[in-house]
Amino acid sequence: MAPTSLMILRPLRRDEWRAFRDHLLRLDPDDRTMRFCHAVNDVFVREHCERAKRSGSLVIACFVDDELRGAAEVTPLDGVWPLTAELAMSVEAAYQGQGVGTELLQSTLLAARNRCVAAVNVTCLLDNGRMLHLTRRLGARIVVHHTAPPAQTPPPWRSELTRVERAAQDGKAVFQARFQFPVAQAQLHAG
Ligand SMILES: CC(C)(COP(=O)(O)OP(=O)(O)OC[C@H]1O[C@@H](n2cnc3c(N)ncnc32)[C@H](O)[C@@H]1OP(=O)(O)O)[C@@H](O)C(=O)NCCC(=O)NCCS
Repeated sequence: MAPTSLMILRPLRRDEWRAFRDHLLRLDPDDRTMRFCHAVNDVFVREHCERAKRSGSLVIACFVDDELRGAAEVTPLDGVWPLTAELAMSVEAAYQGQGVGTELLQSTLLAARNRCVAAVNVTCLLDNGRMLHLTRRLGARIVVHHTAPPAQTPPPWRSELTRVERAAQDGKAVFQARFQFPVAQAQLHAG
């Protein structure tokens, strides 16, 4: 990030969901896997954004020079008081390691608290050192689970390329489902 860059953190407006989707589509394969806790394709990302938009998830966006480069998505888990929410976040590779994720997480916890959320769960792969570091620093309680990945959403049409991609993804999903993989769940108090 250039020293003169202007960074703004604020809730995503209803007319800005496309910018959120484009940000998630720009994540490199490793960061995408870390963000969703399993390998996902473009179709999955698009559908995820549509679902999040419909369900009214809160997204705190980080704009750098007017371009959305980071985002934290907060989804309430149930309607029982005190409210608990699930948080997932991402920062594009060129903007990582510069404090953006830290600022984004803190702002998002504050925004969640202002919406009466008492606790926030963050699920990440166990080898996601950065995310674990961020949550530990804010005093998170961390629990390790062994879980199988959610099913992949198939692409709407087939071509030779998608067949090859599907075969690779199916192989990966079978591998992950057979052996299961560890995730860490960090719980943070929003208040
Ligand atoms: C996790 C993520 C959001 C962090 O964003 P970021 O902008 O890089 O975060 P920051 O720069 O504020 O902080 C990173 C911290 O991790 C530390 N860190 C970097 N690599 C690390 C590692 N392998 N293990 C432990 N800590 C590490 C840095 O030293 C820094 O800590 P410090 O501020 O004490 O020096 C970003 O890396 C990302 O988008 N990753 C891909 C998606 C993802 O993993 N999302 C989480 C799933 S919910």
